[in-house]
Amino acid sequence: MITATGITKTFKQRGGVLAGREVHALRGVDFSIAKGGAASFIGESGCGKTTLGRIIAGLESYDGGEIAIAGTPMTPLRPKQRQPHFRKIQMIHQDPYSALNPTRTIHQTLQAPLALRARQTGRSKQWMEERAAEVLSLVGLDPGSVLSRYPHQLSGGMRQRVVIARALTVDPEMLVADEAVSMIDVSLRLGILALLKDLRERLGVAVLFITHDVATARYIGDDGELFVIYRGQVVERGPVDTVIADPVHPYTQSLLSAIPVLHGLEEPGEQPVVPLESLDESQADAGCLFARRCPFRDERCESELPLLQVTDGVPQEHACFHPRSRSVIARPLSGV
Ligand SMILES: Nc1ncnc2c1ncn2[C@@H]1O[C@H](COP(=O)(O)OP(=O)(O)OP(=O)(O)O)[C@@H](O)[C@H]1O
Ligand SMILES: [Mg+2]
Repeated sequence: MITATGITKTFKQRGGVLAGREVHALRGVDFSIAKGGAASFIGESGCGKTTLGRIIAGLESYDGGEIAIAGTPMTPLRPKQRQPHFRKIQMIHQDPYSALNPTRTIHQTLQAPLALRARQTGRSKQWMEERAAEVLSLVGLDPGSVLSRYPHQLSGGMRQRVVIARALTVDPEMLVADEAVSMIDVSLRLGILALLKDLRERLGVAVLFITHDVATARYIGDDGELFVIYRGQVVERGPVDTVIADPVHPYTQSLLSAIPVLHGLEEPGEQPVVPLESLDESQADAGCLFARRCPFRDERCESELPLLQVTDGVPQEHACFHPRSRSVIARPLSGV
């Protein structure tokens, strides 16, 4: 359905103390998702997940690499020619409240994209009404009670369902769900995840799932691939269950170990510690991007960038000179 090769994106900071500094949001990301397939991207804040999602949905430009949608490369096309291709890929944002216009009823919200479609395909007003009811039913909402309401009259979970219904009005082939449940009440999250899973199964919509949380990645696509991304580089990639059961990159291991451990109270043992810290783009990039935080680094790691590859005895792709099964403790740098 979609193939991305070597996608790079660098932002130049405009204002503030960091003005002029370059942020390498994506450093050559490759992936592909088949029709109806699933892929999940995990990584900590600032690693480039939203940037990737926006590029895939045609909402952000990319500096290098290529995206092919259903076999058609996007770069040679003019922006207007790309639109119908990117329309097949719809993004679901983290915050359903800001995604909906508060002054419009759900009916009005759905009619706008449907009117465009009706014009393109010569369909009637009645078709628009029927389709609005249909997409609401698909996301588990009762059209009769929801259509006349405003976003503030719905729960967060219902609002996110409306956002998904609006995306479905254009018959997408893929949904990019960017932290789609993180701002929703915990009790309603599973319902939204189940809906995304259900849409995959019933409509054959592919899902690209962006998350901080490994468990949700597994829920949406246990048959898909998991991509672990660190500072814009995919550092580990493989079938979800393989990566979760047996991660080989120390960064993935630290993500999976993220059971908070209080400084000084951790169990004494042999486990190496990976410091939890915010991403620092100012550090030198000569070697492995993770080297500074890695308890297993050696001289090679500090001078040479490991590329994503398969090596003997390790089933999943990894960007590490010392891939192996081990467990680590992730701990904040400065004490508690
Ligand atoms: N429009 C922009 N201008 C400048 N820098 C940007 C812009 N958008 C993103 N960045 C930078 O690119 C990097 C990746 O950002 P991105 O939003 O993709 O991360 P993320 O993985 O989605 O993080 P989070 O988990 O917090 O949502 C960050 O360092 C961010 O500051
Ligand atoms: Mg983000």
